[in-house]
Amino acid sequence: MKKIGVALLGLGTVGGGTYRILMNNHDAIAKNDGVDVEIRHIIERDVSKAEALGADLSIVGTDIDKVVNDDKVSVVAEFFGGIEPAKTFLIKCLLAGKSIVTANKELFSKHWPELEEAAKKGKAGLYFEASCVGGVPIIRTLTQSMQGNNILSLMGIVNGTTNFILSKMADEGLEYADVLKEAQRLGYAEADPTADVEGFDSMYKLSILSSLAFRTKVPISKIYREGISKVSKEDIAYGKKFGYELKLLAIAKRNAEGKIEARVHPAFIPASHPLASVKGSFNAVHIVGDNVGDIMLYGRGAGDLPTGSAIVSDIVFAAKQAKPQYAPFKNTEKVSDSGFSSNFYCNYYLRMKVKDEEGVLAKIAGVFGKNHVSINTMIQESDGENAKIIFLIHKTGEKNVKKAMQDVALLPCVESVDAVIRVEE
Ligand code: NDP
Ligand code: HSE
Repeated sequence: MKKIGVALLGLGTVGGGTYRILMNNHDAIAKNDGVDVEIRHIIERDVSKAEALGADLSIVGTDIDKVVNDDKVSVVAEFFGGIEPAKTFLIKCLLAGKSIVTANKELFSKHWPELEEAAKKGKAGLYFEASCVGGVPIIRTLTQSMQGNNILSLMGIVNGTTNFILSKMADEGLEYADVLKEAQRLGYAEADPTADVEGFDSMYKLSILSSLAFRTKVPISKIYREGISKVSKEDIAYGKKFGYELKLLAIAKRNAEGKIEARVHPAFIPASHPLASVKGSFNAVHIVGDNVGDIMLYGRGAGDLPTGSAIVSDIVFAAKQAKPQYAPFKNTEKVSDSGFSSNFYCNYYLRMKVKDEEGVLAKIAGVFGKNHVSINTMIQESDGENAKIIFLIHKTGEKNVKKAMQDVALLPCVESVDAVIRVEE
């Protein structure tokens, strides 16, 4: 039996879930994996959280040096969130030869190279399964199960909070702000939920996932990002009329020129698409490999026990590794612009308010034509004075659509451009 000492940094949602699984599954892990996990330290400033879990209070404190100096600790699992003090603590632990397991995608996506450098110096491992898509084993799939493929694309719903919000808005007609509060109460949202609703959390995860998928560093600076805070119930309802569901998607693909395009934004997808039925805090990632074809991983992307499940799997994995493995690519933020594309091609949904008078459609169509934007279909609803027009646009370069919408907004007959939403067919 291999005995390993573990330190838990933080006892909030994920730390609490991890603690409970380690306690409840201790004997099963020992029996099935031959690993006897002992929790030797809990770093948490709010002792009542440890009390509520029935933890041994003599191991609870705030002094990270106790962890660093304890030779019996070989794995440190971090759930503080944010950059500091997590980064400084983890680097200290890595340099002291302790492997780390983390759920902290913000830290990992922004500072992976520094963490890896410290890990190499300390001959320690870096494990981050819980950082992306909660309990879904996506990291292990990308690193250990796709060697027989060149990955062509990865498209997913990777944030539980926003999927929960969009699902409730679509299915129950609820308002954005009320659903966000519920997601916070359920422990899905980040400490600052702006990270969820403005797409930062998905961007961090996409940086990690696409780097592993394409075996080349995809820094967050190369990812286009747009959140869901401007999404309205009205557009979700119109989308339904066209047979679409609205999702916050994280998309990375190699385009025809071999460049990587990586983007996070709300998008309509056909109701028949496998990702359309992913509801609530569930997440899913759809991957296309050149040999395996399509695969999809699905499960809970947030919450205490689902994320704790991924953390515990990493703790056991770390305990069983003979030698740590590092990123299968040059892990640096300094990447060449030429490897990335920002002019991606999509279909679009556009909603605008116009004066209900003759010649308006012709003027808008003229602007579209000048910008190589081609109309697929449209609906118009008038109140006698103004009209609401919704266009579906054929696949077009992002730059063309942006320029067309700037020009359209300048037409005197156009009152406002109210929505520009990409459509992934
Ligand atoms: P919580 O806010 O619930 O938990 C963080 C805990 O760490 C709190 O108890 C906090 O204490 C404690 N803490 C933070 N800094 C310190 C410190 N310096 N010293 C002592 N204790 C400290 O966050 P979550 O569990 O939700 O998230 C943790 C991490 O996991 C984040 O990186 C998040 O992105 C990631 N994650 C979260 C998921 C989820 O579903 N919630 C899913 C996947 C990943 P205090 O309250 O006193 O500040
Ligand atoms: N806030 C994140 C989410 C937690 O909602 O998906 C899981 O990473």
